[in-house]
Amino acid sequence: MASRENPPATSEHGRKDKIMSALSTSIDTINCVKDAIPNEIAKGLLSTFSGILSAVKNTIRNKEDFEELARQCYEISFLVWRATTATPNKALSLHVTRAIDDLKKSKAGVASRTLSVTIDKEKIASWQRDLSRFLQIFNTELNILTHVKLEEIIAMFEQFRLQAETKTTAQGALPPSKPSLFVGRDNLVHEVSGLLAEFRHVALLGTGGIGKSCLAKAVLNEPDIVTKFGAQRYFIRYDDMDASQVSYEVFLDRIGGILGLALGAVDPLSVISTHLSSAPSLLILDNAETFLDAAQDKTRIADAVDSLGALASTVVLLTSRSRALPSNILWNVIAVPALEPVAAREAFTAVYHKPIKKIDVIDSLLQSLDCHPLSINLLAHAARENDWSYKELLDTWNKRQTDLLHTVSRSES
Ligand SMILES: Nc1ncnc2c1ncn2[C@@H]1O[C@H](COP(=O)(O)OP(=O)(O)OP(=O)(O)O)[C@@H](O)[C@H]1O
Ligand SMILES: [Mg+2]
Repeated sequence: MASRENPPATSEHGRKDKIMSALSTSIDTINCVKDAIPNEIAKGLLSTFSGILSAVKNTIRNKEDFEELARQCYEISFLVWRATTATPNKALSLHVTRAIDDLKKSKAGVASRTLSVTIDKEKIASWQRDLSRFLQIFNTELNILTHVKLEEIIAMFEQFRLQAETKTTAQGALPPSKPSLFVGRDNLVHEVSGLLAEFRHVALLGTGGIGKSCLAKAVLNEPDIVTKFGAQRYFIRYDDMDASQVSYEVFLDRIGGILGLALGAVDPLSVISTHLSSAPSLLILDNAETFLDAAQDKTRIADAVDSLGALASTVVLLTSRSRALPSNILWNVIAVPALEPVAAREAFTAVYHKPIKKIDVIDSLLQSLDCHPLSINLLAHAARENDWSYKELLDTWNKRQTDLLHTVSRSES
């Protein structure tokens, strides 16, 4: 793929290597532009350029005589890209279309078919003149159209290329679906979704097992959120590591993995930021206490969260057991409460599956669990797996209470 380097080589030393690399850069850039633009006439012109330069690279002996020509083709490809992307219908002006047509009919246009092992300088010079004339027409046209300089166009193209590349290589994980059993949180789901839709950052705080991650997954799948953020909804989990294992690199690698990005060592945060800036994005950082309490790089990680949250296109939803949050983001802090008694009963019966005769007794049992969702779930599973009758359940509960929860908890982990 093209680098930012300009193709011309100036040093005499290693000139052959430089011209080879300049040719490769030009060919890559031209091919990339060719794939990106919708205009068939311009595509044809770029194919010719890339054909000429490939032939020069592979067969011509006096490659160094083509340095200027390679530079011209390289510049023209940017101008073509800008000219097609600057107009709303991506059409080239009549003036430019005619110039392309002329150029294709000119000597440069037939060059790829007439190339032999060496080309005399006069012939190359005549092609260069054709291209110069064309560049002049194009530049004038573009100046009128966009008022941007070539260097700016190159920088814009580089940004475009990066985005296109990350889009095509993105194979990030699909976002998790809504939990199959999820009760009693309608108001919270509504509240959190509303905040996120307005790009207001949210921190869901609460003790372990209170239901923060389930709530985040439910929000992630709300129709309004799906419509607003589409494929740029990312759920990044940190619940399978502890604070001693997280570093700045690990923190960003997780995000890069879910976004489907290949993060280089140079500036991974900016690769992630560029991707998130390409469209409205929802970034869910689940079990954030793991990285906010990280043994290494704690401050650097918090700064990275701050900088992701500062992106205009990105809203962050974070779940955490800890109250210590990155300080430069204006968080809407929501303390996730225990389930309401009715929802707690619903959560229990959905797993237990047996008829419950004395609802008030079960209710008080669930109260003794503080209507804590994870505890309810564990108890209901234990009751179902052991096929306890309603009475057995109460007897066992009265006898073994916390033991029971711990046993199931261990077997589930
Ligand atoms: N709204 C709900 N309805 C039914 N069950 C729920 C609900 N919320 C949570 N649970 C149950 O509680 C369990 C723990 O929930 P969750 O993983 O969301 O907790 P958490 O607050 O993220 O905990 P941790 O801090 O350990 O990550 C879930 O696996 C599920 O069984
Ligand atoms: Mg969680």
